[in-house]
Amino acid sequence: MSPFPAVDPIPVPAPIWLIKLLHIVTMALHFVAIQMLVGGLLVALLLHLFGRSGSSRTSAAALARRLPIVMTYVINLGVPPLLFAQVLYGRALYTSSVLIGSWWIAVIPLLMACYWSLYQFSGRLDKGRSGWWFGGAAFVLAGLIAQIYSSNMTLMLRPEAWAAMYQSSPAGVHLPSGDPTMPWRLLTFFCGALLTAGLWMIWLAGRSTFEAEDARFLRTLGGRLAAVMAVVEIGVVRQLAASQPAAVRSALDGDAIAQGSAFAWMAAIALVVLAGSLAGFTRVLSGWLPWAALLVAVVRTGAIAVYRDALRDQTLLTKGFDVWQRNVATNWGVVGLFLALFIGGLAAAGWLVSVVARANRVMEKTA
Ligand code: HEM
Repeated sequence: MSPFPAVDPIPVPAPIWLIKLLHIVTMALHFVAIQMLVGGLLVALLLHLFGRSGSSRTSAAALARRLPIVMTYVINLGVPPLLFAQVLYGRALYTSSVLIGSWWIAVIPLLMACYWSLYQFSGRLDKGRSGWWFGGAAFVLAGLIAQIYSSNMTLMLRPEAWAAMYQSSPAGVHLPSGDPTMPWRLLTFFCGALLTAGLWMIWLAGRSTFEAEDARFLRTLGGRLAAVMAVVEIGVVRQLAASQPAAVRSALDGDAIAQGSAFAWMAAIALVVLAGSLAGFTRVLSGWLPWAALLVAVVRTGAIAVYRDALRDQTLLTKGFDVWQRNVATNWGVVGLFLALFIGGLAAAGWLVSVVARANRVMEKTA
């Protein structure tokens, strides 16, 4: 008997390829935001704790000041992929969400506590006061949320573990352990977070609101961090790939989309090493580097989102779940209206980013 619940008899109201496309795009945007949040927070915290120079204080405060804004993007860009994932993978994702139900619901209060701690941290750093315990608390809370998400996203791929988990506790109090892919998956996330934070610092260094000395500090540190983490990421991703079951590995080898995205990721990693080294060790291309950093951050995260999607589909296929096997009855009027609103929403978010970028003309110094 299949461990997956029966398919919902109501047909999907849009083509599967369209829902998958929207899912991957919004998931990639969510990943950019969470990596900026977690990586930027860790760098700000370390600079605040151990940095001795005026530039390290200014950089810590500049990063911390932006984190509550980044959090709004984390949340708002997290909701759409959650909805698309539920449409596509509901039979697996609802089951795993119920199995870790207490933790899954705990994300909401944890997120609120994390958000509050971020405001406290950035407020204190702005006033030149100590706030490491708020920054530390925000990091621990964000890390816990990341672990809960990773647990759910891996448990949904292991239907063979569901019955035993439910028998051990129907209250949803256990986070699953024993999945060999999980530690590498989390490490890939934290590694990518620091890499993205480095690229973000190169981008910030291009802004006119920093004194030349502070901009140089941000660019140098960000460049070196991005370049080093890109090399570390190669090792971690290799381990993540090796930890997958043999059947999934060979299915991915024959999957053109997975191979294409792996190639795009490798190209992006090479560009991160190049851009990071230029920023970290030289003074060349100063006008172009912030844009190059932004571009490779998006390409790298997009490639990871596509590969991760192929990994999920191939894993579920080995367990008898084919995401493409659905009854579809497209309602094009509703799809058109949805797409218009979706593009309008992205444009509004882009406009908000541009308002923030233009409004912040005060020089970035701590009190
Ligand atoms: C501090 C806050 C957050 C952190 C640190 C975080 C972290 C993560 C991580 C690490 C993953 C990848 C898990 C994996 O595949 O191993 C993930 C996936 C995801 N997150 Fe977030 N997240 C946060 C907030 C949110 C919020 C508020 C939402 C939605 C309301 C959200 C929605 C999602 C979705 C839908 C996915 C999976 C997408 C998919 O695979 O289809 N996240 N998150």
